[in-house]
Amino acid sequence: TWQYSLRPKKLNEYIGQDKVKDNLEVFIKAAVSREEALDHVLLYGPPGLGKTTLASIIANELGVNFRVTSGPAIERSGDLAAILTNLTEKDVLFIDEIHRLSHSVEEVLYSAMEDFALDIIIGKGPSARSIRLDIAPFTLIGATTKAGALASPLRDRFGVISRLEYYEPDALVFIIKRSAEILGIEIEDRGAREIARRSRGTPRVANRLLKRVRDFAQIKGSGIITDEIADKSLELLEVDKAGLDNIDRRMLETMIDKFSGGPVGVETLAAAISEERDTIEDVYEPYLLQLGFINRTPRGRVVTVRGYEHMNIKAPQKETT
Ligand code: ADE
Repeated sequence: TWQYSLRPKKLNEYIGQDKVKDNLEVFIKAAVSREEALDHVLLYGPPGLGKTTLASIIANELGVNFRVTSGPAIERSGDLAAILTNLTEKDVLFIDEIHRLSHSVEEVLYSAMEDFALDIIIGKGPSARSIRLDIAPFTLIGATTKAGALASPLRDRFGVISRLEYYEPDALVFIIKRSAEILGIEIEDRGAREIARRSRGTPRVANRLLKRVRDFAQIKGSGIITDEIADKSLELLEVDKAGLDNIDRRMLETMIDKFSGGPVGVETLAAAISEERDTIEDVYEPYLLQLGFINRTPRGRVVTVRGYEHMNIKAPQKETT
């Protein structure tokens, strides 16, 4: 469908993440020329930066099947065994949120990754025995927002570990224009730039905002996305000049009003603003850290002078950074 086609299918259509892309291109070419499965790849970084997209491109460039699952979806080691024994040679198995695999499932994955073998226990008690089952060589691509949450035996079994970064505005402008072209949206350069600036470095956010701004342009404007209509629409969508949404701002406001700018622990903050701890850690905090609006200290998060300035609140005399 057209929705799906916003996702690039080739490495040369994938915009940004140049370092990751250039290295992967080499590893893919090398594996293809040796007719081997690509080494296992771990992709990590904040949500919405294109980890799944990149994984599907890798499979496509390798010319193999792309099988998708996620950490929470694999409940038992038998579920994983079923998936692994159904792979054909050199296939890519993508496990999203790989940090959420259970311990027993992870154990099965170790020998699968290292030896392309499954150790299966048959029977119970004294007569129980273990048999080893060979599986086809495959490439595991794991994705996680928290590389630190991976057990080191698992992390150590990835031959390639790549960190995706927030996108520069220039790269987002490219992505927005490409998406506009695919969706048949008329957009001016300055309109694309306005959306890019306020997309928190994230293609998923940029594409969502593009569609919403198009709605405003169509109903309230000329149908063409100009910088003016983009600015007005984003204001109505409550996305501020730095790309912060309501929850980002509520978080900063709460830290300032209720906790004197911090330090405040993540659990306390989560309770105060009624959001999940994981959402704060994976989505909100990384971007506020990137902007330099908050800092992490051993005693918790603090609002920086820049954070105060952005909220138009006078920072206390005490240096909070
Ligand atoms: N859509 C989402 N991420 C993208 C990227 N990095 N390049 C092109 N289109 C994208």
